[in-house]
Amino acid sequence: MLVAQISDPHIVEPGQKACDVAPTSERLAQLVTCVNKLDPLPNVTLITGDITHDGTDAQAEQAKHLLAPLKMPYHVVPGNHDDRTALGKIFSGQACPSQDAEFLHYVIEDHDTRLIGLDSTNPTAPGGEFCQKRANWLDARLSEASEKPTILFMHHPPVKFGVQETDVDGFEGSDLLGELIERFPNIERVLCGHIHLTAHTQWRGTVVSTAPSAGGMRLALDLTLKKSSGFHLANPEFQLHHRTTDGGLITHQVEVSENDKLYLF
Ligand SMILES: [Fe+2]
Ligand SMILES: [Fe+2]
Repeated sequence: MLVAQISDPHIVEPGQKACDVAPTSERLAQLVTCVNKLDPLPNVTLITGDITHDGTDAQAEQAKHLLAPLKMPYHVVPGNHDDRTALGKIFSGQACPSQDAEFLHYVIEDHDTRLIGLDSTNPTAPGGEFCQKRANWLDARLSEASEKPTILFMHHPPVKFGVQETDVDGFEGSDLLGELIERFPNIERVLCGHIHLTAHTQWRGTVVSTAPSAGGMRLALDLTLKKSSGFHLANPEFQLHHRTTDGGLITHQVEVSENDKLYLF
């Protein structure tokens, strides 16, 4: 089992740049080419939100166009920059098989690891949210297969990572989610995005991690929480979650770079 994780591409309209400087469509196209060249090819790609920069239909269509060449199935969950309705409409079907009228959440049963996409968005705030309705749904889904290895994927990390995007924006209902996760030790990972950085922590008996930006918008690391943070223009990056032969789930980070010259040790 090999899972690719793409996060935070922040796609804008064709020919435009995110925040007027970041060529996010070019970056995502480079990244998709790189993923397609991997050997072995990932079984599936998970896209953990902020797929668009402003949530418009045109941006979601452009993102869908850029992701279309992926040689494996991919699945999307919304981020705070996305519009839940637009995303659900444009990616309906295999990419977002949610049957819920309110939230974009679903289970993918096609692999040896169960993949559960969660909707952590709050349409009125940039921070994360997990409410009783979503808890009821997740509890029922987790209870269906409490022995099978499971990955949860969503946009907002439910843990304070020491940067503004988690600590100041917050995550309403993180305890509700944490209490639920604690009851299911088969949850191996909670894969998130949002902070445009790679970070990991243990939480409630599992590992919560964040993937970097596929759009090459790397957060300027600021641990003071004093000022609104900016980003650096960077190469696009993604993660690979690899089930090795002894059963462990190992995470690698891949930077998509034009400099691929090899040197011998
Ligand atoms: Fe983002
Ligand atoms: Fe975000």
